[in-house]
Amino acid sequence: MGFPTRINHFLSFLLIFCSFCWGVSSVNDSITSTRFIRDSQTISSSNGDFKLGFFSPQNSTHRYVGIWYLSQTYIIWTANRDQPLINDSSGVLKIHKDGNLVVLNGENRVMWSTNMSASATNTTAQLDNSGNLILRDVSSLTTLWDTFTHPADIAVPSMKIASNRITGEKIEYVSWKSSSDPSSGYFTGSLERLDAPEVFFWYNKTKPYWRTGPWNGRVFLGSPRMLTEYLYGWRFEPNDNGTAYLTYNFEKPAMFGILTITPRGTLKLVEFLNRTIFLDFEVDQNECDFYGKCGPFGSCDNSTVPICSCFEGFEPRKPEEWNSKNWTNGCVRNVALNCGKLRNVSEKVEEDGFLEYHNMKVPDFSERSDGDQEKCGADCLANCSCLAYAYDSYIGCMYWSRDLIDLQKFPNGGVDLFIRVPSQLLHAASGGGKGRKYKVLIIGIMGAIGALATAISAYLLWRKFTPKHKGSVLQDEISGKKKEITTKLEELPLFKFEKLANATDNFHFGNMLGKGGFGPVYKGHLENGQEIAVKRLSKTSGQGLEEFMNEVVVISKLQHRNLVRLLGCCIEGEEQMLVYEFMPNKSLDSFLFDPLQRKVLDWKKRFNIIEGIARGILYLHRDSRLRIIHRDLKASNILLDDDMNPKISDFGLARIVRGGNDDEANTKRVVGTYGYMPPEYAMEGIFSEKSDVYSFGVLLLEIVSGRRNTSFHNDEQSLSLVGFAWRLWNEGNIITIIDQEIWDPVFEKSMLKCIHIGLLCVQELTKERPSISTVVLMLISEITHLPPPKQVAFVQKQNCQSSESSQKSQFNSNNNVTLSEVQGR
Ligand SMILES: *[C@@H]1O[C@H](CO)[C@@H](O)[C@H](O)[C@H]1NC(C)=O
Ligand SMILES: *[C@@H]1O[C@H](CO)[C@@H](O)[C@H](O)[C@H]1NC(C)=O
Ligand SMILES: *[C@@H]1O[C@H](CO)[C@@H](O)[C@H](O)[C@H]1NC(C)=O
Ligand SMILES: *[C@@H]1O[C@H](CO)[C@@H](O)[C@H](O)[C@H]1NC(C)=O
Ligand SMILES: *[C@@H]1O[C@H](CO)[C@@H](O)[C@H](O)[C@H]1NC(C)=O
Ligand SMILES: *[C@@H]1O[C@H](CO)[C@@H](O)[C@H](O)[C@H]1NC(C)=O
Ligand SMILES: *[C@@H]1O[C@H](CO)[C@@H](O)[C@H](O)[C@H]1NC(C)=O
Ligand SMILES: *[C@@H]1O[C@H](CO)[C@@H](O)[C@H](O)[C@H]1NC(C)=O
Ligand SMILES: *[C@@H]1O[C@H](CO)[C@@H](O)[C@H](O)[C@H]1NC(C)=O
Ligand SMILES: *[C@@H]1O[C@H](CO)[C@@H](O)[C@H](O)[C@H]1NC(C)=O
Ligand SMILES: *[C@@H]1O[C@H](CO)[C@@H](O)[C@H](O)[C@H]1NC(C)=O
Ligand SMILES: *[C@@H]1O[C@H](CO)[C@@H](O)[C@H](O)[C@H]1NC(C)=O
Repeated sequence: MGFPTRINHFLSFLLIFCSFCWGVSSVNDSITSTRFIRDSQTISSSNGDFKLGFFSPQNSTHRYVGIWYLSQTYIIWTANRDQPLINDSSGVLKIHKDGNLVVLNGENRVMWSTNMSASATNTTAQLDNSGNLILRDVSSLTTLWDTFTHPADIAVPSMKIASNRITGEKIEYVSWKSSSDPSSGYFTGSLERLDAPEVFFWYNKTKPYWRTGPWNGRVFLGSPRMLTEYLYGWRFEPNDNGTAYLTYNFEKPAMFGILTITPRGTLKLVEFLNRTIFLDFEVDQNECDFYGKCGPFGSCDNSTVPICSCFEGFEPRKPEEWNSKNWTNGCVRNVALNCGKLRNVSEKVEEDGFLEYHNMKVPDFSERSDGDQEKCGADCLANCSCLAYAYDSYIGCMYWSRDLIDLQKFPNGGVDLFIRVPSQLLHAASGGGKGRKYKVLIIGIMGAIGALATAISAYLLWRKFTPKHKGSVLQDEISGKKKEITTKLEELPLFKFEKLANATDNFHFGNMLGKGGFGPVYKGHLENGQEIAVKRLSKTSGQGLEEFMNEVVVISKLQHRNLVRLLGCCIEGEEQMLVYEFMPNKSLDSFLFDPLQRKVLDWKKRFNIIEGIARGILYLHRDSRLRIIHRDLKASNILLDDDMNPKISDFGLARIVRGGNDDEANTKRVVGTYGYMPPEYAMEGIFSEKSDVYSFGVLLLEIVSGRRNTSFHNDEQSLSLVGFAWRLWNEGNIITIIDQEIWDPVFEKSMLKCIHIGLLCVQELTKERPSISTVVLMLISEITHLPPPKQVAFVQKQNCQSSESSQKSQFNSNNNVTLSEVQGR
C-alpha cells in the first residue's frame, strides 16, 4: 500500500509544482503566487462543476468573489460577503505576500483575507471537485484553510455542521440578508445539544428561532415535514475530541445537494442528479415553529384557535397577557407534584403519574440515557426533578428537568411525550372529561390494592376516553350498527363450530397455514372432501373483532376471479371464524422468495400473476358496487390457486370509500405493512386508491426481481427494493434487477415494461401515479411508449417508526407483519 500512496503524493506534488512552474499550463483549477484572477476571469474545478470568480447577485451591481455550482444561480460560497466591491470591476483574487488568499479592490486595498497567521508564505489555493477551495502550503502540502470549514449559508455534500462540546466552538452557517444581498443576514444555523444533536436556527445569533428536534439517525424528531427521503445520506459523527458533526453525502457521484439557510430563516434543499434538479424542497414554517411560541409548558397547535394551550394541570402564568395572545410567559402548574413533598406520617401517600400526549415536538434541553420505554418511565418517576420523558427507539430515553419549552402538537409524526402530574390529577381528569384525547398512564410503586384499583379505573377511563374513530365509515358501522353486521353474517352460509373443529383436527397446530390479520388460518377437510381454509379470530387479538367484522362486510359483497372467495362463517359463543376456499399453492411469497420454488414461476406465470392482481385491484377500485381500498397488498396476501392464478386475500384492513370522487381519505390510524406503504400514508395517514397503486408497484418489482422488498434491510447502499430499482434505472442498468432464474431475452421487452410500470406506480407524487385502470391498460396493450418515471418514494422502516411511535413494537418485531392498532387519536 505504501508504495502507490507515495506515488500519489509525488504525483499530486508534481501537479502543483508544475502548475507553478509553467504558470499558464493546462491546469486551471488553482490560484498560485504567480497566477491570480481578475474580475471576469474564473478558475474551474477539474470536473467542471464548480467555478470560482467574481459575480454580482441578481438586482445588484456589487462585485463579490464566490464559488458556484453549474451557474451563478447556485452560489455556494462567498468570500467578501460583507465587503463588496462597489462600482468597481477591477478587483483581483490572489495569493498575498504573506501566503493568504485575498480579494483586492481596484485600489489594491484588501477587502477580504483568509487571515491565516501561519508561517507558510508560499501557498496555493485549489478548487477541488467537491467545490472546496483549499489553501495549501506548497512545500508540505498541508491544508491551511478551506471554504468547507468557513462556510457561508450553504452546506454541500461532505461539509460539516460541527460543534465542539468542550470549547463551544461551532461552524456557523449565516444566511444572506436578502436574495440579492449576500452580506451576513439575520439567521444563523448551527449544531446544538450534542447529546441528542439537533440543528438550531438563531435569529440575530442569540435568539433561538427554530429547531429541528433531535436527530435520531434517520429523521429529525421535531420536523415531521422533512421526510427521510430528503435526509437520505445524512449521518451524525459522534465526538472526536469533543467535536461532533452532522454531514451528508450521496453514494452516487452523479448526485449533488445544496442545503441553504435562506434569508427568511427557512431550510431549503435542492438536489441534482447528473446536473439537473430533481428535488427542490423548502421546509415550510408556521406560527408554531417559532421557538418557544407558547412559552414554558405551553403547547402549540397551528390547527386550533388560539394556537397555544396549557397542558392539563397547568394554567397561564399571566392570564391577561395570555388572553391577549401574548403567550411568551407560558403556563405554570396549578396543582403541585407530590414527589419530594414533606408529608405527615398519617397522610395518605399520593404518587405522581404521567399524562401522555401524542405527536409532540420534543421540548428543548433533553437529557438522555439508554433504556426501553418502561425504564424511561420508571427512572423519570423515581427522580423528583424529572418533569417529563419520551422514548425513541434510536435515541433511547429523553428526560426533561427544566421547564418544558418549544412544544408543538403535530398532525402526525413527533413523539409520545409523557408529562409528570400529581396522581390526584389523573383521578380528577377521569371525572371532568372534556373529551380530551389522552390516555392516562400510571406507573408507580403503590400498594397492591391501590394498583389494582387504579388499574381498573384506568382501564375504565381508557374505555371512556378512547375517541370514536371519526371519518371511518366502517368503524361507525361497527360500533353503531352491530345488528346490521350480524344480519350480514347471517346471510352467509353458516358452519357449525363442531364441523370446523373436526375439519381442522381440532385446530391442530399441524394444520395451521399461517397467521392472518386477526388470527391463525387453518387448513381443513370437510366431510364431503372439500378443502377449506378457516380463519379463526384469536381471542387475544385486541383489534381482531374489528378486522373480522371489516372483512365480513367487505368480502361478502365481492366476487371476482382474482379475489379469494368466502364460503361462509361460524359464530358460536366466543368463536368467530371465516371459511374460505382453500388455495393449494399458498401465497405468492412462498414461491417468489423460495430459492427452490421460484423457478416454478417462469415469466409467463409471473406476468399472469401481475395482470391478475391488477385486475383484482381494478375490480375493488372501480368495478364493484363499492369502492374499496385494500390497504395491505403484499406478496403474502396474494394466494395462488392450482393454476397459479392470483387471488387477493385478507380484507381486514380494507376501507370502503363512499362517493364517486377521487378524494383522499385521512386516517389517524396508519395500518398496513412497512415497505408497501406509500410515504403520504405512512407519514401523514392519507390514503387513496393511489396507496394501493403504490403497493402494487412494490409487488410488481418484487415479482420481476424475485427479491423481497425488505431484503435490502441491512444493505446501507440502498433504502429498499424501490430505492435500489430507482438507482439502477438512473444508472441505465435496470435490466440487472430481473431475477436471474427467469431471464429470457425473448421476454426482455415485456419484463422491462413491467419494471417501468412498477416505477410509475411508486412515484412520490400521488397524482403522478397511474390509476389502476391505466396500469391494466398499460399491461395488456401494446403501448411501447410510457412516460419516464419521476422521483420515486421510498419510506424507510425507521421513518414510519418515528412518525407513528406508538406502533414501534409491531415494527420492531418483524418487518413483515401487518400493523394494526385500534387506539385512535
Ligand atoms: C481558466 O480557464 C477559463 C476557460 O477555460 C478562462 O476563461 C480563464 O481565463 C482561465 N483563467 C486563468 C486564470 O487562466
Ligand atoms: C430583482 O428585481 C425584480 C424586479 O424588482 C424582482 O422581480 C426580482 O424578484 C428581483 N430578484 C431578486 C433575486 O431579488
Ligand atoms: C455606482 O454607479 C452608478 C451609476 O454608474 C451610480 O448611480 C451610483 O451612485 C454609484 N454608486 C456608488 C456607491 O458610487
Ligand atoms: C480578517 O481580520 C481582519 C482584522 O482582524 C478582520 O477585520 C476581518 O473581518 C477578518 N476577515 C475574515 C475573513 O475573517
Ligand atoms: C514557492 O515554491 C516554489 C516551489 O518550491 C518555488 O519555485 C517558488 O519560487 C516559491 N515562491 C516563493 C514566492 O517563494
Ligand atoms: C441584534 O443584536 C444586537 C446586540 O447583540 C442588537 O444591538 C440589535 O438591535 C439586534 N438586532 C435586531 C434586529 O434584533
Ligand atoms: C484527537 O486528539 C488526539 C490527541 O490529542 C490526536 O492525536 C488526534 O489527532 C485528535 N483527533 C482529531 C480528529 O483531531
Ligand atoms: C399548519 O401548518 C401546516 C404546515 O406548515 C400548514 O400546511 C397548515 O396550513 C397550517 N394550518 C393552519 C390552520 O394554519
Ligand atoms: C409579551 O409580554 C412580555 C412581558 O411579559 C413583553 O416583554 C413582550 O413585549 C410582550 N410581547 C408582545 C408581543 O406584546
Ligand atoms: C402535620 O400534621 C399536623 C397536625 O395535623 C400539622 O399541624 C402539620 O402542619 C402537618 N405537617 C405537614 C408538613 O403537613
Ligand atoms: C435527578 O435528575 C437530575 C436532573 O437530570 C440529576 O441531576 C440528578 O442527578 C438525578 N438524581 C438522581 C438521584 O438520579
Ligand atoms: C447520469 O450519468 C451517468 C454517467 O454519465 C449515466 O450513466 C446515467 O444514465 C445518467 N443518469 C441519468 C438519470 O441521466
